[in-house]
Amino acid sequence: MIRQLQKNEEIPYKLLLLADETIEAINRYINDSEIYIFENDNETIAVYALQKISDDTIEIKNIAVDTKHQGQGIGKLLLRDAISRAKAKGFKTIVIGTGDIAIKQLYLYQKEGFEIFDIKKSFYLDNYPNPIYENGIQLKDMVMLKKELI
Ligand code: ACO
Repeated sequence: MIRQLQKNEEIPYKLLLLADETIEAINRYINDSEIYIFENDNETIAVYALQKISDDTIEIKNIAVDTKHQGQGIGKLLLRDAISRAKAKGFKTIVIGTGDIAIKQLYLYQKEGFEIFDIKKSFYLDNYPNPIYENGIQLKDMVMLKKELI
């Protein structure tokens, strides 16, 4: 079941850190975001965070599934949940950003109807203290994707 995390509940940093490198980076958006969690047998196994960007646009700032539960369709479920909540809230566009070398994520987001509209050059060089490597390649640019909701 997916439900919104209440303000008095503990923020699931361990999960959020699967999708973002540092607590500092997460803290730049998390307190200003709505957090949704996926629970199974009282255990939180996945999370996503939605932040309003403008009156028309909302962004999925973080989406993560516990490693043991990846590849079982939960990420897709969360993405669809985020899209339907954004639509219900009246937003016109939902956006999401990921690393330029994040093949699986780019595949998933485009399969769910997101389209690339921007590249934030050097995002990972400018916003993180240490270099980030994925599969031996240094992460540099953030790819921004959007989906129109109407
Ligand atoms: N390689 C390529 N494609 C894959 C792989 C893989 N290893 N695993 C799954 N996929 C594909 C599947 O084929 C599936 O599409 P299909 O059902 O049409 O075949 C699609 O990805 C979605 O699969 P799910 O099982 O729904 O994905 P999952 O539950 O693993 O969630 C997620 C995806 C959120 C990216 C998860 O793997 C994760 O938490 N990764 C680590 C954190 C992360 O990178 N988060 C995103 C960062 S960007 C951001 O947060 C804004």
